[in-house]
Order: sequence, then structure tokens, then C-alpha cells
Amino acid sequence: MPVLSPSSSSFFVFICFIIFFVTLYSSNCLAITTNAKRPRQISVNYYAKSCPQVEQLVGAITSQQFKEAPVSSPATIRLLFHDCFGCDASILIATQPGSKVLAEKDAEDNKDLRTEGFDTITRAKTLVESKCPGIVSCADILAIAARDFIHFAGGPYYPVKTGRWDGKISMASRVPYNLLHANSSVDQLITLFSSKGLTIQNLVVLSGAHTIGFAHCNNFLDRLYNYKGTKQADPSIDPRLLKALKMSCPQVGGNTDIVAPFDVTTPFVFDHAYYANLQSKMGLLASDQGLFLDPRTKPIVQSLGQDKAKFFQAFLSAMDKLAQLVPKEEEDMERNGKLPFEL
Ligand code: HEM
Repeated sequence: MPVLSPSSSSFFVFICFIIFFVTLYSSNCLAITTNAKRPRQISVNYYAKSCPQVEQLVGAITSQQFKEAPVSSPATIRLLFHDCFGCDASILIATQPGSKVLAEKDAEDNKDLRTEGFDTITRAKTLVESKCPGIVSCADILAIAARDFIHFAGGPYYPVKTGRWDGKISMASRVPYNLLHANSSVDQLITLFSSKGLTIQNLVVLSGAHTIGFAHCNNFLDRLYNYKGTKQADPSIDPRLLKALKMSCPQVGGNTDIVAPFDVTTPFVFDHAYYANLQSKMGLLASDQGLFLDPRTKPIVQSLGQDKAKFFQAFLSAMDKLAQLVPKEEEDMERNGKLPFEL
């Protein structure tokens, strides 16, 4: 570390840098987790010696949440996705009061993440800390909790690899480059996924998480009233679904809190109905329905729609891949032999 003269401009930059990290680092999760000096070794049973009961502790919270607030399932699964593309729990970091730097969770694209997902992780972290202080990262707790909810909702059970570090950088300004939107084209979906090392098959399989949960009207309003500026509805919506959605979501003046289920028949069940829905023009978002319209993704939709076991198998391996992605800047630092965030 170079010695800095207090009068130099670099000293000022250095102080700003420190303030920036202190501001973002003091969240509930990160203040008590992970040691940046241990090597990254993501594996099943990572905590076998240091906190063997971690899965039971997290499970105690997720099972209770599942009963008391079922929306915690889709909320936590979505939270994991919004954190991933670098699964480091940086989505959980709060913007400090008075800070000019907004954290990821306060980015426009993350404002509709349900509080139940955050609550689940905070509660699980608190319980885990009471038994294994300073051992388990929030990123791992999030991955375990999402798996639990998928399983409780009828989806596949899979062993979660653990040993992730919690990130210390969380900036809202990075979110737009790392998230997709309800009206993203299939090209955009494929491009972002492939930039993270995820295949077209992974994209279609992971989108199957939209078999569970809900979306706000603003995410599909254009499809109902003015598809691509035509002042008509999207022709690829089933007329009965269109009618029902229009009743819940008027073109103007609707309640912004109203949500519609992704899967009209079983919105809380993790099954492969998503793919059958797409084939019947029952996809809720344009980005979902697009997967059945594009020749690159259509055959995958058809094949997963026919075979639940195949979907489950593909889903758990895609989740495993997704949940192992680390933030790009950490990867670069590791490659260069540096430990992340050593000042
Ligand atoms: C492929 C691109 C994707 C796009 C464009 C997308 C977009 C969206 C949008 C717009 C919503 C509705 C949010 C709201 O109105 O509250 C949503 C909800 C949801 N997304 Fe995605 N998503 C994508 C992929 C994924 C993936 C890969 C997962 C998980 C592996 C996922 C899990 C969920 C879940 C579970 C919900 C329901 C949340 C709730 O009910 O609280 N999404 N997504």
C-alpha cells in the first residue's frame, strides 16, 4: 500500500474508497460473515465440520415460512436469481441512510422483490449465527433456502454446494447490465445468459421457475393493450387469459399492487406446467411466451413440457451451474493471485 500524503488528491480518493466500502459493508449479513482469506472451495458438505447442522437450521426457518407465508417460496427463488450472475449475497446489502451510493436491492429492477425473501434469509442467518457464529455466508444460506423452497413446493431436491464468499460490493448501477426484463427478446435473453456461461438449454430450463409465483400488471400491460405499438393485444395470448388479465389489469388507473399468477392453475406448485402453458399461449410475460415462438428455444420447451422428470433433472443441474457463478471482478482478482477486496 503506497504511503499517501494527506494533502494529495489520491489521499482524498482513498478516503472516499474506504467510506464507500464501510457504507456498503455494514449490512446485517455482511457484518458477521466470511473471511476473505480462505480459499474458495465450493463443495457439498463444506460446513461438515464447522457447522454440520446448517441445513437443519435453515430448514427450520424455511419450513415455517413455507407454512406461514407461502409467497416466501417464489420470493426467495427470485431473490437467488437476482443475486446470481455472481452469487455473493450482494443483493442483501442495504443502502446506508444518507449514502449517495444505492445498493443493488434499491435498483429500479429490484424494487418489486418481495420482502418475504429478504425476511427468510435474515431469520435463517440469525438462527445460524446463534449456533455457528461467523462461519456460514449469507450467499450459502440463500442457496440452501431457495433449494428448500423449490423442494417444499413439489420440485426436485438437490444437494447444494456451499463455501461461497459474501461479496462486499453492491451497486445499483450494475443491475441493469445483469438483469433481463419482461419484454426482453429471446436474443437478449440468450446473449446475457451466454455471457455468464449459461447455454440456451439452461435459459429455457431456469425460466421454468416461472411455474411458481406472480408478476405485477406493469410487466405485461403492453401485451394486453398495445403490443409493440400496434394498439392491439399480443396475438400470442390465449383469448380467455387475455380477458381475465384485462379484468385484473386495466389499461390506466389500475392498482399497482395487483399481481397475476405465472401459472393460472397451480401457482404455488413447482411442476413443469410452465412449458405446457407456453404451448397453449398461456405464458404471462412476453419473455416467457417468446421461448415458444423462437425456433432456437421452441424444441426445448416442447421436450420439457412432455417430461417432468427431465425438467427436474435439467433444472437441478442448471441451478447448480447458476449458483456457482461468482462476480466477475472477484474471478479476475483470483486469477491474478489477489484476494478480493484487500485494501
Ligand atoms: C429469463 C429471464 C427472466 C426474466 C425476464 C424474468 C422476469 C421476471 C419478472 C418481470 C417477474 C415478475 C416480478 C413482479 O412483477 O413482481 C418475475 C418473477 C419471478 N421470477 Fe423471473 N425472470 C427471468 C428468469 C428467472 C429465473 C432464471 C428464475 C429462477 C431461477 C426466476 C424466478 C422468478 C420467480 C420465482 C418469480 C415470482 C416471484 C414472486 O412471485 O414473488 N426468474 N421474473
